[in-house]
Amino acid sequence: MQIFLDTAILDEIKSGAATGLVDGCTTNPSLAAKAGREYNEVLKEICSIIKGPVSAETVSTDAEGMVKEGIAFSKIAKNIVVKVPMTAEGMKACQRLTKKGIKVNVTLVFSANQALLAAKSGAFMVSPFVGRLDDINEVGMNVVREIKQVYDNYKFTTQILVASVRNTNHVLDAAKIGADIATLPYSVFEQIFKHPLTDAGIKKFLEDWEKVPKKK
Ligand code: G3P
Repeated sequence: MQIFLDTAILDEIKSGAATGLVDGCTTNPSLAAKAGREYNEVLKEICSIIKGPVSAETVSTDAEGMVKEGIAFSKIAKNIVVKVPMTAEGMKACQRLTKKGIKVNVTLVFSANQALLAAKSGAFMVSPFVGRLDDINEVGMNVVREIKQVYDNYKFTTQILVASVRNTNHVLDAAKIGADIATLPYSVFEQIFKHPLTDAGIKKFLEDWEKVPKKK
């Protein structure tokens, strides 16, 4: 499973990239607001650090506007993927951008039926938001499982990008289901390295190492 960082904060992206384990990056207007910098500039810098797909989100509500924004984003770098929302206008934009050779990530997906429409529109990626479904007492991962089944049935090549990840269980569940990608907040990325027994094991090995006779 590919691991993306869900952030527009450059320090997080640099630290993540330095591990050699980050395959891509996703951003959205809320994450751009947190980063507090001009969006296109930030995207350009992210694309210089991350060689894999970097999602840039459109904010127009009509297909025409989304296509215009998408074309402009695609000029920032080769690895830009344009995010459009899961609406009828978004699907029109997805089809038009895809025809131009621009990759599209359909975002704000909350059902497998929506994911079916995104795949039929030629989406490169689809982003089910698992955490937000959990927030309303649904099981977000069930939607990911259903999308996987539908895509396998019809051999759609649209990648399933699990988004709105809130914890390490989401990451493991995404991998168990066979999602293509999970995009993680930096805090969750840090957590998946850790296990208390690893820390305790290192501590014990270092203590015992002190007891090993050394050459004088
Ligand atoms: O990738 C989408 C993600 O940023 C949404 O996450 O936590 O705002 O639901 P969240």
